[in-house]
Amino acid sequence: MRTNNIILIGFMGVGKGSVAREVIRDSKYMTIDTDDLIESMENKKIKTIFAEKGEAYFRNLEKKVAQWLELSVQNTLISTGGGFYKQINLKKIGIIVLLDSPFDAIIKRIKEHPNAAKKLKKRPLLADLKKAKELYDARRPEYLKLADIVIDVTNKTPEVCSKELLKKVKKHA
Ligand code: S3P
Repeated sequence: MRTNNIILIGFMGVGKGSVAREVIRDSKYMTIDTDDLIESMENKKIKTIFAEKGEAYFRNLEKKVAQWLELSVQNTLISTGGGFYKQINLKKIGIIVLLDSPFDAIIKRIKEHPNAAKKLKKRPLLADLKKAKELYDARRPEYLKLADIVIDVTNKTPEVCSKELLKKVKKHA
């Protein structure tokens, strides 16, 4: 199937949701979020799914979402969880856009948010910041390798990132 989707990838807390919401204000795209789909599938929060069923179970749900996206979704901005990039059919789903930022800047962004406690609590893999940094270091080269487009979001507003994204996607098409 020919898709016109944009897939937003990047580490937890980098701002995929905020940028996605801005892009749909600026364009004809609609947006869906892989974590929201999984929460609906299970009628449970991500942190509950991790706690009750474990990470492997969650990754299987991500796989199911990836298969559905490839077969059934078009003209959509797809915001993904930070580990979704591992899905083997990612390239078949759409143009891959990486939102990139250094680890410390991401953590600073989360901690300065008015809902910081909630943002940290809902992400089981951010519970231990030392482990999270190791995960970041392991993933970043993989994110960069996969991405068709990279946007450095450090110290930029979602509005600025959205404009940059739409410009780069247009050029890429
Ligand atoms: C994860 C990122 C989370 C969520 C889950 C696992 C990861 O999404 O999918 O907690 O493996 O990086 P966000 O990137 O939206 O925080």
